[in-house]
Amino acid sequence: ETVDASGKYVLPGAIDAHVHFREPGYVHKETWETGSASAAMGGVTTVFEMPNTNPPTGTPEALALKLKAAEASYVDFGIYGLLGEDNLDQLEALIEGGVAAFKCFMGNTFGNLPSPPTGAILEGFEIVAKHGYRIALHAENASIMARRQTKLREAGRNDPLAHLHARPPVVAVEAVARAAILAEWTGARIHVLHVSSGDELRPLREAKARGVDITAETCPHYLLLDETAYTDKKSLIRVNPPVREKTHQNQLWAAVQDRTIDMIATDHAPHSHEEKHRDEIWVADCGFTGVETQMPLMLSQVREGRLSLTDYVRMTSLAPAKAFGLYPRKGALLPGSDADLVVIDMEHEASIDSGLLQSKGASTPFHAHPIKGAPIHTMVRGRFVMRDQALVTEAKGHGKNVRRIQQMPAPAPRNVETTTQAILAYRPG
Ligand code: NCD
Ligand code: ZN
Ligand code: ZN
Repeated sequence: ETVDASGKYVLPGAIDAHVHFREPGYVHKETWETGSASAAMGGVTTVFEMPNTNPPTGTPEALALKLKAAEASYVDFGIYGLLGEDNLDQLEALIEGGVAAFKCFMGNTFGNLPSPPTGAILEGFEIVAKHGYRIALHAENASIMARRQTKLREAGRNDPLAHLHARPPVVAVEAVARAAILAEWTGARIHVLHVSSGDELRPLREAKARGVDITAETCPHYLLLDETAYTDKKSLIRVNPPVREKTHQNQLWAAVQDRTIDMIATDHAPHSHEEKHRDEIWVADCGFTGVETQMPLMLSQVREGRLSLTDYVRMTSLAPAKAFGLYPRKGALLPGSDADLVVIDMEHEASIDSGLLQSKGASTPFHAHPIKGAPIHTMVRGRFVMRDQALVTEAKGHGKNVRRIQQMPAPAPRNVETTTQAILAYRPG
């Protein structure tokens, strides 16, 4: 199979460490077929998929259901197992069953999975640390935001900004700092999902300086939108954690430059049109589609000189490959070649059109957003899954579980002395 790539760039395919494909359980929002088709069209060759489905991916039985659904995938995938208070005795069976990483919901979000108390998180970290798999964190403090949301509701707030006010940065700062301490104590590897505020950068930098194996991602919406967008977008922009003020956005860009933030992931969180467009902010579902819009949005930033193409590839491909054990190559264990590639056209001008996305829950605050630069061909293990900006429908089911080729290095030893110092030395901003 050949394409003419003259005048184009050939990049490694993007690895999106944070997508929700909703199946099993919420197939009106997305399925593995539609979500992975969206990935293929977005230049994404591997996704890591989240456990807040129904049933949640917290037992080997639930994992088997998800792996069955994922057989429809166009792109390769890793599955996150749930790390919750009620399934600590299932974590090793989940590893046995083929999860690629774990996810812990420290704060409430879509799916309403309970947030484990700190004691359970510590035990979960201890168990997973023995096996080296990375634990991704929805790092928000459940208690702080529950109290604030109750107060804002009682005050009758029906302002999209109330969602932002219910989740001030301290909600995330507290959780990032706590998770870093637990990771340092146990030797667990962790990944901080959807960094949205400048304030989280301090505990992240401090943990990295102490040698904690901690990686972090931000998402296009935190880099490209700010609180002025709530007026127009209203409930459509509702996402956990919230899009914040410009000052946070500026600090996130600085953290992209100084590499405190390792990755750009999408938090692809599709919901139906009705679920996203509500008069009352508190009843709109949180999150929006993203796996297909990341590359055109971020390549446009590359064009504008805010990020080099090399840094873009590091953040969307190299860093997630290293963090989740897929580096340096796929090797011989999966069929096909190692070629996970995307051909991009930096001259391609268009605007994001939610009507053209493959995702079922295609509502996005980026609808009509102009872009310059886009993926045009995507290849997964030597096979085209998108060609000339069209989905190769025969490639449905080509995707494989990357767990088979994952190589996580041996767990790091814990260092109690520096942990204690860190706890004593930590002071908020
Ligand atoms: C995500 C979802 O809908 O699954 N929603 C969101 O607002 N980000 C859950 C999550 O990542 O917190
Ligand atoms: Zn989350
Ligand atoms: Zn998410």
